[in-house]
Amino acid sequence: MDSSAAAPPTRRLFFALWPDAPARAALVRLAHEIAHHGHGKAPREDNLHVTIAFLGPVAAERLGVVERIGCDVAAGIAPFGLSLERVGGTGYGIAWLSCDGVPPSLASLHAALAAGLARAGFPTEHRMFRPHLTLARHCARAVHRGAVQPVRWTVDRLALVESTLAAGGSRYRNLHEWPLAAAPSPAPRASA
Ligand code: 2AM
Repeated sequence: MDSSAAAPPTRRLFFALWPDAPARAALVRLAHEIAHHGHGKAPREDNLHVTIAFLGPVAAERLGVVERIGCDVAAGIAPFGLSLERVGGTGYGIAWLSCDGVPPSLASLHAALAAGLARAGFPTEHRMFRPHLTLARHCARAVHRGAVQPVRWTVDRLALVESTLAAGGSRYRNLHEWPLAAAPSPAPRASA
């Protein structure tokens, strides 16, 4: 056996929602406040996102399949409002912002992606979907948990993002972004 054969190249991928500019500005302020209180580190401003489906390392040759799933799913969901209003944290120094209730369209978006990925043979995530946006990592002190001023935006795009490790942490790069646009229901036929 040739043990020198290189492993096939992979890309670390996930589907995500990016906040719009005003929401991002509010999130940057909140992330710095939370990181400051927790003696932790806020993510880079351009890393603030909500993950909808995490794929992990994907064989590069399967990228087209993943793109097709994203394109099809985005075409079936209409834009919707998202409100994040609750700070939570783990014992591992992470703080995040989540929502009090998952909007039905967000649940549909997640379910459609999960189903499409499972049909295409990607590993299935069995954990309950808990949408969140990471605000701080490496917190040495317990962070304030609870309700905060809601951060809202209209979700109108789905992104396929690649994560690469760089000096200073992960870098996220949009590979594709699709507008959300549920196809209008067919017009009723005029009766003769
Ligand atoms: P996090 O912010 O809670 O760490 C890129 O790493 C994105 O994928 C991040 O939003 C990260 O969530 C999420 N992620 C990383 N590993 C994951 C896993 N095993 N399951 C689900 N999401 C994951």
